[in-house]
Amino acid sequence: MNYEEVMKLALERGFYFPSCEIYSDAQAGFWEYGPSGVSMKTKFIELWRRELVRRDAMLEIDGSQIMSKSVFEASGHLASFADPIIKCKVCGLNFRADKLIFDITKTEIPESADLADFDRAVSEKNIRCPKCKGEFEKARKFNMMFKVEIGPEAEAAYLRPETCQSIFVDFPRLFKTMRGKLPLGIAQIGKSFRNEISPRQSLLRLREFYQAEIEVFCNPNKLDKLERFSEIENTTIRVWIDDELKAMSCKQAVDSGVLPNKFVAYYLGLLTEFYEKTGIDMTKSRFRKLGEKEKAFYATVAFDFEVQTTIGWLELVACNYRSDYDLTSHANKSREKFEVLDDEQKVLPHVFEISMGIDRSLYTILEHSLRDEKENERIVLSIKPYLAPVHVGVLSLVKKDGLKEKTDEIYMKIKRRYDAFLDHSGAIGRRYRRLDEIGAPFAITIDHQTLQDDTVTLRKRDSMQQDRIKIQDLDTVLLKETAFP
Ligand code: GLY
Repeated sequence: MNYEEVMKLALERGFYFPSCEIYSDAQAGFWEYGPSGVSMKTKFIELWRRELVRRDAMLEIDGSQIMSKSVFEASGHLASFADPIIKCKVCGLNFRADKLIFDITKTEIPESADLADFDRAVSEKNIRCPKCKGEFEKARKFNMMFKVEIGPEAEAAYLRPETCQSIFVDFPRLFKTMRGKLPLGIAQIGKSFRNEISPRQSLLRLREFYQAEIEVFCNPNKLDKLERFSEIENTTIRVWIDDELKAMSCKQAVDSGVLPNKFVAYYLGLLTEFYEKTGIDMTKSRFRKLGEKEKAFYATVAFDFEVQTTIGWLELVACNYRSDYDLTSHANKSREKFEVLDDEQKVLPHVFEISMGIDRSLYTILEHSLRDEKENERIVLSIKPYLAPVHVGVLSLVKKDGLKEKTDEIYMKIKRRYDAFLDHSGAIGRRYRRLDEIGAPFAITIDHQTLQDDTVTLRKRDSMQQDRIKIQDLDTVLLKETAFP
């Protein structure tokens, strides 16, 4: 289903909604997760931990969101983390130059292009302010970091624009204290902050957003010597390169030169396996190799994992080969040593980054899972049971004759192990429809027969099939059906 239909579900069923919405000075680009959204996000993160962090024995940290100025002087963000903007000479509105030019002319100019490229496009295509038709000033760069003031002397610091900087800064300590060995993955989930010029489309361009980032530290001389590569060599990946889609095994991708080495192929393979398990339609996905002007300033090679949605291709993950850019920069500024021993040799590790946008991933899962089943007069969120906000609805057919009490008793028994939703009121059909919309894979209904033989009706969301099962078997069935793969 499309963006508007996902938004309707999100607002009406507690997935997400605008922050501070009761006030007129609420700012764009800030959204809250409601109970359904939090539940789904928590499960998505658990899947990420299982499939990436634990699978590869990575280390996970939880760093500060406010970081000192030195970090961003070293990282290059103070100098280079800027968007091109243009300001209307008449009404003073600012626009992101690349987006406005694309919206009006459908011509793509990468955000990292020279400022003169934007000025030329504005002049050649006679682009005027969409609001007042005024002329634009010359394009300029706008740094997207949020500055904050610390303590009574108001020392400058910044909200982190990416979570990974603490991973780089902490690397020497972590490698030593956790007895690290290359290749070593260090992971972090948390919020990042970017002062976007044009935040829009709810979760898709936020000023405050969740990232799940993994930085893999490796010996640059061993990028083709990864033993674990055999685990994913037969996994099919879809790479968009030179304007063409190549779907091939990881091994073929390396052998044919589509991917630069086993190291990169291994992590693109892992990501493919991860997203397959989220239920996203992988036939609508690709790893797109970025051109020189599209890459972030710290990347030497970059692939974006993109998924097609009803509002176009969405970048869910940035996979950046950052070389020794970050470690060298922090070593130079801090005088800390970042070299480590690998096979008795001193080496300054290179970094391959898997930077996942959680909010966009959740949106895409919702869009790809939501179906309008007109024949059954229902909207159904056919989400994987292990990602579903609610695992099971617990319903009494009617409240009288002791059915409410029996229903409450069953609910109390299972609610610690499963996300269960208790519902006593309304027509049973309408209650099933509500559960379908929030993606509950199961509903159990307690009726008069329950009081006689201790059985309940178990209804399955996707097939709508109803089976009679014993209360004592409920746990076994739910455990099996809602388990992570
Ligand atoms: N750390 C890479 C990014 O935030 O895109």
